[in-house]
Parts: sequence; structure tokens; C-alpha cells
Amino acid sequence: MKILVTGGAGFLGSHLIDRLMEQGHEVLCLDNYFTGTKQNIDGWIGHHRFELIRHDVTEPIRLECDRIYHLACPASPVHYQYNPVKTIKTNVMGTLNMLGLAKRVKARFLLASTSEVYGDPDVHPQPEEYRGNVNTIGIRSCYDEGKRVAETLAFDYHRQNGVDIRVMRIFNTYGPRMLENDGRVVSNFIAQALKGIPLTVYGDGSQTRSFCYVSDLIEGMMRLMENDEHLGPVNIGNPGEYTILQLAETIQKTIDPDAEIVFEPLPQDDPKQRQPDITRAKNWLDWEPTVDLKNGLEKTIADFRARVQV
Ligand SMILES: NC(=O)c1ccc[n+]([C@@H]2O[C@H](COP(=O)([O-])OP(=O)(O)OC[C@H]3O[C@@H](n4cnc5c(N)ncnc54)[C@H](O)[C@@H]3O)[C@@H](O)[C@H]2O)c1
Repeated sequence: MKILVTGGAGFLGSHLIDRLMEQGHEVLCLDNYFTGTKQNIDGWIGHHRFELIRHDVTEPIRLECDRIYHLACPASPVHYQYNPVKTIKTNVMGTLNMLGLAKRVKARFLLASTSEVYGDPDVHPQPEEYRGNVNTIGIRSCYDEGKRVAETLAFDYHRQNGVDIRVMRIFNTYGPRMLENDGRVVSNFIAQALKGIPLTVYGDGSQTRSFCYVSDLIEGMMRLMENDEHLGPVNIGNPGEYTILQLAETIQKTIDPDAEIVFEPLPQDDPKQRQPDITRAKNWLDWEPTVDLKNGLEKTIADFRARVQV
């Protein structure tokens, strides 16, 4: 198949492209390089089945394809808050443009949505039926509400125009190629520990997160895309729940047991708990995560050691 991956030069997009290329597909990688890099897809540049397109999804584009994986959007708070209006444009206009393309060329369309649509949840763990607790005017809203609108657009294009859509809600994912400076907790702690600077925990570290290793996530994403029965939304994440302090201590032990942990004030609207209910993914896609935190962290730390200047 001819497969378009928007945001293909980013963390998740580049791992998805590796899998699609290995399966023998023709891959179009579309990216504006805001948070993605050519290094992430270096191995495929020049391959006859691979094409790289520098393009911003907020502008329409015409091309032919059978599948659209729509991942283009900065995912970490430091990047999506850098230009919040642009983040909303990317989520709303970018998704509109890609759904318009899917409609025109009759491609199946998958939206990379997020657990952030649940906001600061008052239901735990979060099943897909939970409608969320999102602040419409906070500093995270450009991303959270942007993704909520993107989901709405996908379902409206389906109902109104018959576009074949899939919606996945991605929970915290980590692994090789995460940006060292993107402010996400796993990359922060690893980079800090490798550089010998204190690990920064926001709040008292009792807030929880679940962490999904990237290969598991991509497997779930591809299963949803090729599932002929269900549109979603489907949560894809690892239900193993850890406090941020536990994560810091695990990374501290693995890299440098003498590393210091320091505490700083919690940012606005930081969710207290986040854990996916993956019953749907199990039933619909026969999917569940296979890589545990210890193994996933070892692979991620090895990648960071090779890249991060200490
Ligand atoms: N990684 C996670 O834990 C996570 C969690 C929930 C949702 N997601 C979603 O998955 C997708 C991929 O996330 P990621 O972790 O790979 O992030 P990332 O920042 O590494 O990748 C996003 C990619 O999109 C590109 N991009 C951003 N704005 C664009 C625009 N206007 N036009 C074209 N390209 C643009 C960036 O350059 C980058 O290559 C995002 O939509 C994100 O919201 C990720």
C-alpha cells in the first residue's frame, strides 16, 4: 500500500515508518520538522519506496495514498505551549486538511489522539466512555481541546462523508529517539541522570503515570488501522501505574545511584493520575503491552547514552 505518515520524522512517526517500510509498503513521510528530525528517518532516505515531503499540515496538500496515519502535532508540553495558537491550528486545520485528503482519495485515516482528552480525570482508570475533565482555558487546553476537536472532526467526516476513520488515544509512550530537551518525564530524568545533574520531580512525586514502550504502542496503532470492524476510540497504553517518584528512583538506580532528586512546584493543570483501561484494545485488537518498564527503560537509556552529550 501507499501510506502517508504525517509527523513521520517525529518520535512515534519514525518508529511507525520503520515498521511500515519493513513490511514492504510505499511510505510518504510528511513533516515540517518542528519537533521531528531527518536523523530519525535517516536510514530510509534514498530508498525507492520512501519519500520525504517537507510540508505543514495546516496547508492543504494533494497526493495519492491508501492510508493516512495522522500524527503531526507537537506532543510535549514545552513544544505545544511554545506557540499555543499554532498548536490549535495544527490540530484543527491540520486534521481538517488530512480528513479532506482522506475523503478525496478514499484513504483510511487514523488519528493519533491522546489520553489528554480525559484532562485531569475523576474516573480511574479511564475507559473510552469517560468524557473527561478538561479545562477549556488553561495552558494545556491548546493541546487537549485541539485533540478533542480533532476527534470530533474525524467522527463528523465519517458520519457526513463516509470517511473510513480510526481514532486511538495514546497514553504516555517512551523509547529511543525521544528528544532530550522535550520536557517529558522519562526523557528529562534520563538526560539529567546521564549529565550528572539532579532529577527534577514536580510536586511531591505522588502523581501517577503509566508508561508504554514505543514498540508496543506502534503494534497497537497498526492493529487498529488494519482492523475492519472498529473505528474507536481505543486507548493504547500500558496500565502499569507508577508514581513519578518511583520512576525517578528507578532511573536513578539504573544510571547513577548517587544522583540527587529535587522537588519543584507542580505546573498548572498537571493531572494527578493517569492509567488506561485497555479492555477495548484487548477485545477489539487482541492487543496488550509486552515490554515492562525495566526492559523498556534499559533500551531507552542505551539510546540516550549514544546520543546525549554528557
Ligand atoms: N508520545 C506520546 O507519549 C504521545 C501521547 C499521546 C499522544 N501522542 C500523539 O502522537 C503524535 C506523535 O507524537 P510524538 O511523541 O511522536 O511527538 P513528536 O513531537 O516527536 O512528533 C510530532 C511530529 O509532527 C511534526 N509536526 C508538528 N506540527 C506539524 C505541522 N503543523 N505540520 C507538519 N508536521 C508537524 C513534528 O515536526 C514532529 O516530527 C502526536 O499527534 C501526539 O499528540 C503522543
